[in-house]
Amino acid sequence: MSEKPVINYGLEGIYVDESSISKVDGQNGRLWYRGYSIESLASQSNFEEVSYLLLNGRLPSKQEYEEYTKKLRERRGLPKEVIDVIRVMAPVSHPMDVMRTATSMLVMYDSDPNNRDLEATKDKIITLLAKTPTIAAATGRFREEKKYIPPDISLGHSENFLYMLSGKKPNEFEGKLIDLMFILHAEHSTNASTFSVLVTASTLADVYAAITAGIGTLKGPLHGGADEAALNMMNAIGNPDNTEKYIEEALEGKQRIMGFGHRVYKTYDPRAKLVRNYLEESLTKEPSDEVRRLLQIALRAEKLMVDKLGATKGIWPNVDFFAGPLYRVLGIDSHLFTPIFVASRTSGWGSHIVEYWHNNKLVRPVEWYVGSLDTPYVPMDMR
Ligand SMILES: CC(C)(COP(=O)(O)OP(=O)(O)OC[C@H]1O[C@@H](n2cnc3c(N)ncnc32)[C@H](O)[C@@H]1OP(=O)(O)O)[C@@H](O)C(=O)NCCC(=O)NCCS
Repeated sequence: MSEKPVINYGLEGIYVDESSISKVDGQNGRLWYRGYSIESLASQSNFEEVSYLLLNGRLPSKQEYEEYTKKLRERRGLPKEVIDVIRVMAPVSHPMDVMRTATSMLVMYDSDPNNRDLEATKDKIITLLAKTPTIAAATGRFREEKKYIPPDISLGHSENFLYMLSGKKPNEFEGKLIDLMFILHAEHSTNASTFSVLVTASTLADVYAAITAGIGTLKGPLHGGADEAALNMMNAIGNPDNTEKYIEEALEGKQRIMGFGHRVYKTYDPRAKLVRNYLEESLTKEPSDEVRRLLQIALRAEKLMVDKLGATKGIWPNVDFFAGPLYRVLGIDSHLFTPIFVASRTSGWGSHIVEYWHNNKLVRPVEWYVGSLDTPYVPMDMR
């Protein structure tokens, strides 16, 4: 019998590849996309440019940017059958289930879905980037029994998403907020969903299959679903004065506080800092009572958690903690938070597919078998 190997549960600390897409520095709370700090991209760039950067490895020239954004704008519309399926599913299914199904359907409209040439792959990713916000917005409309709003080609990528969802063209500050969320969620190295995308891509399945796998993985509350779960918790707390009692009791009951903790960041997530800053800025713009209340709860919860678990266990707010209140500034329903994450993360997922296929290797880890061997088979009528 050979000796039991070290088992890395959850693949913690295991390097699976080299990558030049993003760097997460978990000790110092830093994040770079293709070498650019997340702070510089959040303040100076926009999602279109960031997604180009991730996909192509460098910032676009003016002409490249115009060609790229033209494709993104022109491809925003959805085929009628996809809209019909969203209409059927949206009132009864979670928007992430709708997103997963509608995204998977898009393979039908690709005449050459298995083409893995570099330019063909990037082109499919641009199509998915263009259409996933429309899927999310249409889902939000149909959930509330409202009419589908077709995309407006004159608007920027994330602004158009808000317009399709609300029917109103966002003002400059609202446009900045939604674009910020698209930028911050665009990429984060080999997290669970990106790894899932790569596992699927490594079998040489098509781009749609790989992205659909990523959507399924992102849904869980330990990953992308944490933003919705964190807002649900803030709503359950209700009154800011209940915050400390609620959190203390939850911790005593060994519950996890959603929006805190991270496998890689053992300090403040830099994206959470950016969201918090913009959220505080939104207080100067006459926010609703709901947003004021949520922010008070969030800040009190943050203080308690950081005092209790920050230094001792390295548990700090992650990007999902302040995301919910910020989406509420924009009036976005909590069920749509994770589908927005999909619309943004499609750029990171797609960039990883391109990188991985450059030197593809089937993903196939091993398990240490602890069951029995050569068990005698017993026919059913003798069991
Ligand atoms: C993200 C997450 C899964 C990473 O966890 P991990 O690196 O695998 O760490 P573990 O699950 O092993 O937790 C380590 C310890 O911290 C505690 N812990 C981790 N996250 C916690 C949280 N959010 N609230 C309370 N305790 C937490 C665990 O209970 C565990 O305590 P123990 O050592 O006393 O048993 C985890 O922090 C979590 O569940 N967070 C909440 C969900 C979330 O916000 N996800 C979004 C991530 S961007």
